[in-house]
Amino acid sequence: MEYGVVGPDNKLICSTEIDLPGPRLPHDSWITENYTILHDLPMFWDPELLKQGKKKMIFDQSMKTRFGVIPRYGSGKDVVWFECDPTYILHTVNAWEDGDEIVAYAYKQLSPVPDIPKGTPSVKVQNYFLSFKHMEPRLAEYRLNLKTGKASERFVDDANAEMPAINYRYLGIKNRYSYNTFAAEVPLFLMSGIQKFDYQELKEVDRYDLPDGKYMGQPVFAPRVGSQGEDDGYLIAYVGNLEQTEVWVWRGQSIGKGPIARVQLPLVVPAGSHAYWGSGEDIRAARARRNAATA
Ligand SMILES: [Fe+2]
Repeated sequence: MEYGVVGPDNKLICSTEIDLPGPRLPHDSWITENYTILHDLPMFWDPELLKQGKKKMIFDQSMKTRFGVIPRYGSGKDVVWFECDPTYILHTVNAWEDGDEIVAYAYKQLSPVPDIPKGTPSVKVQNYFLSFKHMEPRLAEYRLNLKTGKASERFVDDANAEMPAINYRYLGIKNRYSYNTFAAEVPLFLMSGIQKFDYQELKEVDRYDLPDGKYMGQPVFAPRVGSQGEDDGYLIAYVGNLEQTEVWVWRGQSIGKGPIARVQLPLVVPAGSHAYWGSGEDIRAARARRNAATA
């Protein structure tokens, strides 16, 4: 694995090689104030078949999930590995440092390689791999203790959810809320509603279920101009069906009351896309901090 950090001037600040037991398929990672946490998950292409140019997914439950903690600008030899139960993770929520520990939240899959019923037409097999309904992601908490080298993990919710959003002003530092989306009862990465999850109470504190027949993608959180708190802002997402797409906007403090605006788009936006919300003000401030640090 190659790990590197790009600065706000689009220049590579550092890059290093990370030793792995074989080729891997990580999809995400975490960052905290001082560290980056890399994923080595026991799901990969069958190495023998790969040599013949064929791709077959293997989920090896005899292997561990490994999380590699590396200082932000560190080198491959600085990585400290933590071992956890085998799983696959698509998306992380957030992570932060808490004393000697890194606390990290992500969607841990119960069935990374779902059981496909015999007789399923091959054209439908991909539905199992493009469906959170079948992969059964659950919100999990990982604690990585940098002093003892021990890791612990637990599930903190039983909703079949994924594609979370947070206020990115809190990326890498302790936050209180995420907006997780519920897996719809259909294939593909379609979601059927939003759950506001509170990490202080460790429970769902608000939710909005879409009307029947409507699906959404991953929302983004946009802080309100003059925002007075983490959830003082708007959730924005594509909502629609296969024929029509709208953009819906909810208040972060009252998603259960439903959208406060709906905008019909003149085209259909495919499901499954990621997006990021960054305000110009935040990006300019980050660039100024970096310039001051390197001056
Ligand atoms: Fe993704």
